[in-house]
Amino acid sequence: MKSIIVYYSLTGNVDYVARKIAEKLDSDILPLSVLNAYPDKGFKKFYWGGKSAVMKESPELNEYKFDKDKYDLVILGTPVWAGTFTPPLRTFIRDNDLKCKDLSFFACCSGAGTMRCINNLKHEIGIDKETINLELVDPKDKNDDYVCQKIDEYCKKIKEAYEK
Ligand SMILES: Cc1cc2nc3c(=O)[nH]c(=O)nc-3n(C[C@H](O)[C@H](O)[C@H](O)COP(=O)(O)O)c2cc1C
Repeated sequence: MKSIIVYYSLTGNVDYVARKIAEKLDSDILPLSVLNAYPDKGFKKFYWGGKSAVMKESPELNEYKFDKDKYDLVILGTPVWAGTFTPPLRTFIRDNDLKCKDLSFFACCSGAGTMRCINNLKHEIGIDKETINLELVDPKDKNDDYVCQKIDEYCKKIKEAYEK
């Protein structure tokens, strides 16, 4: 089973999870980055990122290579911004039709709203089928047993689904 993890991360949590999953599933990774980077500190971080998410912006992404036909599974990862997925994912989804691919999702937040975020992402892609998902709260600095266990369980579910 060949998989790729496509994700956006501003402050490292989603990146941390993506790399852990990639190790376990031997996945390729595609970190998305935006041409005009969002501020990553202080009030500006929340203001500009939050506004961009609420306004449903599709910021221009730096160039990337993605050949969806190479993969059995595409895993999409995002932080929760203003209760939903991040704008760079919106651009990626707009530019790549993923409706017919096998998809899985993970989202990181600092409070709540991961499932709503994932459902919004699925709605934007145009799918409503059940998917294997992973939800975490600011996992990077915790690096604790609970986080590792949740990542392990998620990867195990994916492996089982594809070994059938
Ligand atoms: C602009 C912005 C909006 C956010 N909105 C939410 C939110 O609505 N709910 C929440 O629980 N966390 C929210 N967060 C916190 C992030 O989702 C959380 O810290 C996440 O782990 C960050 O992932 P990253 O380090 O990969 O960027 C927000 C963070 C930013 C920067």
